[in-house]
Amino acid sequence: MNQPSALPVLPEGFVWGVSTAAYQIEGAVTEDGRGPTSWDAFCAEPGRVLNGDSGEVACDHYHRYPEDIALMADLGVDAYRFSFAWSRIQPTGSGAVNPLGLDFYDRLVDGLLKAGVTPSPTLFHWDTPLPLEQAGGWLNRDTALRFGEYAGIVGEHFADRIPRWITINEPVVLTMLGYGAGIQAPGLRLGFEALPAAHHLLLGHGLAVRALRAAGADNIGVANNHAPTWAAGDDPADQQAAGLYDHISNWIFADPILTGAYPEAMAGMLPDVPAEDLEIISSPIDWYGINYYNPTKVAAPGYSATQGDADGPALIDGHELDAGLPFELVDIDGYPRTDFDWPVIPAGLTELLVSFRERYGDALPPIYITENGAAINDEPDAAGRVTDQRRIDYTDAHLRAIADAVDAGVDVRGYFHWSLMDNFEWAVGNSMRFGLVHTDFETQTRTPKDSFHWYRDVIAANRARS
Ligand code: NOJ
Repeated sequence: MNQPSALPVLPEGFVWGVSTAAYQIEGAVTEDGRGPTSWDAFCAEPGRVLNGDSGEVACDHYHRYPEDIALMADLGVDAYRFSFAWSRIQPTGSGAVNPLGLDFYDRLVDGLLKAGVTPSPTLFHWDTPLPLEQAGGWLNRDTALRFGEYAGIVGEHFADRIPRWITINEPVVLTMLGYGAGIQAPGLRLGFEALPAAHHLLLGHGLAVRALRAAGADNIGVANNHAPTWAAGDDPADQQAAGLYDHISNWIFADPILTGAYPEAMAGMLPDVPAEDLEIISSPIDWYGINYYNPTKVAAPGYSATQGDADGPALIDGHELDAGLPFELVDIDGYPRTDFDWPVIPAGLTELLVSFRERYGDALPPIYITENGAAINDEPDAAGRVTDQRRIDYTDAHLRAIADAVDAGVDVRGYFHWSLMDNFEWAVGNSMRFGLVHTDFETQTRTPKDSFHWYRDVIAANRARS
């Protein structure tokens, strides 16, 4: 009889990585010519971010990157997913290039290569240069065109050294929480009027794919947040609401990239889209990146009230969505929860991966899990040790869920844990800790947690097999 293995086992050649993003770790927001971004402005507005936190210092990675590279070398990861801050490279989002911005990423990329860690950057992780945001941000088609130009600049400079690329991060979250619900920058509450931002983000993605390829870059993907959508019940109204939510959160983003068309269910909800845009958006990619945290449960509006649920509709990152939407998000009970109160449902990842394979068949390129992780806020004990067993359990179960999807025929090539270290978690500031490494935000001391040592063992054991 097969004994379950003590550590998760993934196929030979599987890429083991960790993820971060510029605004969440770098700090140094006015240094060396970096221009302001949508997030600098959002954090400066009172009441937007918990405790008035911001990314002004964050993990001070801009100055401490050699220590962070050393941590990754010690961890033994193959690859590091970070993001370029557009406004370090083009301070206003268009026009002249800031050489000092490129210098910083030269130092980072060269340091990673020297340490044997493959740089796997994202071109855009939500930090829109402020002048572009003030001109309408991603609601404005021009931002997509500027993004294509920026991608070309970065591609020209780095194509010879960077073997894996990600265009944009989580267009769904920027559209829904940034422009739709106002929970993240730029803080607009446009509801369905936010959908043009989705289209322009996708267009920006496609333009970036083309610009990167023209610059000689290869191995290009995108990273989006996806979640299986569960209807709250069999009632047709709940089923219909869940179907709609599934389309606006999952397929409106993946379909145009992978099939060159928006889902038919979205007809009439999007502005008129030129056919040429869809050709650009569906420019071939080499792989598709999925960020997975948990499934979403959806019901028709008013569901919680009919269930006598005193807590009311589920919250997103602690915020309730606007009333008046044609769906309601419902808490998923019966599972362990992270400190962010997100349910821990590893089987949802298997379900999601299998659903991608079923939806796209052979049109689905290889998949990377570009993010997965948990807010577990354990602090160092008196001896300085962080015993975050819950993060180990979470990660172990999700890696096994990926192995299950692989067994079911899904081609998953790698896993980037979110995150290398505790960092600035957007609207909830420094309060939620996703790191394998503990960050003391006062002293900037980094302390590898138990999960760091465990992940190192997982990587080593898998490497020893191949
Ligand atoms: C997805 C985002 O890409 C990342 O920036 C964020 O910190 C994690 N999810 C956790 O919420």
